[in-house]
Amino acid sequence: MCGIVGCILKNDEDVAPILFNCISKLEYRGYDSIGFATYSENRIHIKKDKGKIEEVENKLNLSNMPGKLGIAHVRWATHGDPSKLNSHPHVDERKELAIVHNGIIENYLEIKEELIKEGHVFKSDTDTEVIPHLIEKFMNEGFDLEHALRETIDVIHGAYSIAAISTKEPNKIVATRKDSPLIVGIGENGYYLASDSPAILKYARDIIYPEKGEIVILDENGVVVHDEFDNIVNKEIESINWTPEMAEKEGYDHFMIKEINEQASAVKNTLTQKEHIQEIIDDIEGNIQRICFVACGTSYHASLTGKYLIESLAGIPTDVILASEFKYSANTLNDKTLVIFISQSGETADSLKALDIANQTSKTLGIVNVVGSSITRRAQYVIQTQAGPEIGVAATKTYLAQLTAIYLFSALLAKNEELVNELDKVPDFIDETLENIDFIKGISKRYNYARDFFYLGRGFSYPTALEGALKLKEITYIHGEGYAAGELKHGPLALIDEGIPVVVIVPPGDSYRKTMSNLEEVKSRGANVLAIGSADDDALKEQADDVITINPEIDELIAPLIYVVPLQLIAYFITLEKGHDPDKPKNLAKCVTVE
Ligand code: G6P
Repeated sequence: MCGIVGCILKNDEDVAPILFNCISKLEYRGYDSIGFATYSENRIHIKKDKGKIEEVENKLNLSNMPGKLGIAHVRWATHGDPSKLNSHPHVDERKELAIVHNGIIENYLEIKEELIKEGHVFKSDTDTEVIPHLIEKFMNEGFDLEHALRETIDVIHGAYSIAAISTKEPNKIVATRKDSPLIVGIGENGYYLASDSPAILKYARDIIYPEKGEIVILDENGVVVHDEFDNIVNKEIESINWTPEMAEKEGYDHFMIKEINEQASAVKNTLTQKEHIQEIIDDIEGNIQRICFVACGTSYHASLTGKYLIESLAGIPTDVILASEFKYSANTLNDKTLVIFISQSGETADSLKALDIANQTSKTLGIVNVVGSSITRRAQYVIQTQAGPEIGVAATKTYLAQLTAIYLFSALLAKNEELVNELDKVPDFIDETLENIDFIKGISKRYNYARDFFYLGRGFSYPTALEGALKLKEITYIHGEGYAAGELKHGPLALIDEGIPVVVIVPPGDSYRKTMSNLEEVKSRGANVLAIGSADDDALKEQADDVITINPEIDELIAPLIYVVPLQLIAYFITLEKGHDPDKPKNLAKCVTVE
């Protein structure tokens, strides 16, 4: 989704280079257009265009604009094509006001119609453009900027974080949010607004988290937050322990490969949550008859692994529901249900909507990576995964951190000390697997020809197959389907032909023999089989065309924490072969704040 930034400096330096630095860190949220608005000498200066940040910077020199305060935006188009006209900031009739917005205004068509009748002229196809026109209208009626924004949010429906500047009230930025993320940073040299913390880590690590409907006013003297009755809210200032370096590539070609290499630390750091997880279990134990995971995308695959773990280890019936489908099936929840929300960003709109529903009847637990995000503030219990900021759009280290939290939760719930201890070995297993990187790179090159891929796994390895296929689709744009290995013969086997790549995940364990039979089924129909299995599995080496080997000590129970690593690398290397950018896949965004 889009990303917004705002900054007002205490000194008289130009803000544009800082805005540029901040917004560049949010490119993962949107990369079809970018725009800046700054204020100086009684006017608003705007530069914006379609294209990635670097392209637009080369063309327009965004970091060279006058003024010590400004706002910026990266766009992921929802309403209106990616184009200069549709890019933010959007302005009012007389260009006395500029705003940036992340989210969707659901009733914009009716509002636009009304405003057009009143004489307002619109230039873009966006839902956002109604916001500056509404603020203009209310300011013309006598409201100041803050109250014009307040009136505006009474009219608009949907999700938003908005930041606005006006020539009528220079030297301030006003902002608000509902269902889209917005944080406020207090830095040494100024005050900041951003959709996500990586944007401002370099400048501010003392953070305020505005709540829905609060209005934030930044000026060079500080930050004031007002509630809906205009009372000043004494907001808690929370320090964030992520460092600016964590949001840099640090010599890697892409964030994705950097983040794949950080997975052992993500697991290790998340294992430190053991005591906190035990406390949550102590609190809910005895009161839970059913568990229900809710998530989207990669987080859904982590959840599915959770179902296999909890049901097999703790014997508690467990469902997994896609967040976008949750409201159609939530009527069987009760106070003996624990609903677990898995989310990297903590801001996914579908998950938040589901959380609001679940909070009405059940106990809720968020397993979330982004500190201070909406799910962490709304769930009754929270486990913070410790992956650090993830910038690559395709989730990698946050997936492993989520799995780690789920494994710890399941093992502690089942009082399975052996598994809890086994988890300590996982970081080393991951690093050992990463030592094979050149071999995996070589193999990936050979599969670059394919238009379709199948991924097969059974039991614990089935979600891994789904995740491998998702990674492939997301960044290589090759069609990939993950299947429960036994299900293949109920349809997709008809698609297996000479040379079709089939990735088979076949760790040692109960499912091994049956998965091997499925491997033979596809092999005998001409598939090109790439297997991931144990280093001492000679039968596998004979059967498969290619084998990526993993430490034989790893059995199917903990395999999801390690076997996914080669799958991430395969997707990464094929993407490079195809000349695509693995960090910014087309049409996707890291944080999806619309339903
Ligand atoms: C987007 C991202 C995915 C992510 C999904 C769920 O689609 O591109 O990588 O898995 O959202 O996001 P969440 O932040 O809730 O884990």
